[in-house]
Amino acid sequence: MPDAQATSHPAEHDPVLADTGRRTFVALGIGALGACYAGLIGYPVYQYLATPARKAAAQGMVTQAVLDGADQLPPGSSLMFKFGTTPAMLIHHTDGTWVALGAVCTHLACTVSYEPEQSRIYCACHGGVYDPKTGNNVAGPPPKPLTRYNVEVQDGRILVTKA
Ligand code: FES
Repeated sequence: MPDAQATSHPAEHDPVLADTGRRTFVALGIGALGACYAGLIGYPVYQYLATPARKAAAQGMVTQAVLDGADQLPPGSSLMFKFGTTPAMLIHHTDGTWVALGAVCTHLACTVSYEPEQSRIYCACHGGVYDPKTGNNVAGPPPKPLTRYNVEVQDGRILVTKA
């Protein structure tokens, strides 16, 4: 019959070894908790910081928007749509021409709107005015024209592509 003393772990009987084992265990536990805490704090911060770069990359890959049924848009009216993640507008002018423009004001990025009765694109934030045919900034604080897109009228849909 084997001796019970011979099969037991040495740390069970040596207070120094037992203490070292507890310290190691506590140190590992604290390290694991620290890693979890860092992950809980760091991941949302990483997501917050990475989102604009990810959005910009995704937006850069978008080259067209297909607007099914938009060819039925009555003259003198507009349709808001998204070019990737960016608001944009399609305008069907009364002379039969089509124009697609970004709908983000170049001043401080408010969304602009088409006002056919005034024959203008207007930004209500600070009174910016754009030409609805060219997207050029014509009054108020906007420093640059609106983004202009190419428009192709196809059978049953409108294809909008980067200019
Ligand atoms: S954000 Fe459009 S005029 Fe200021």
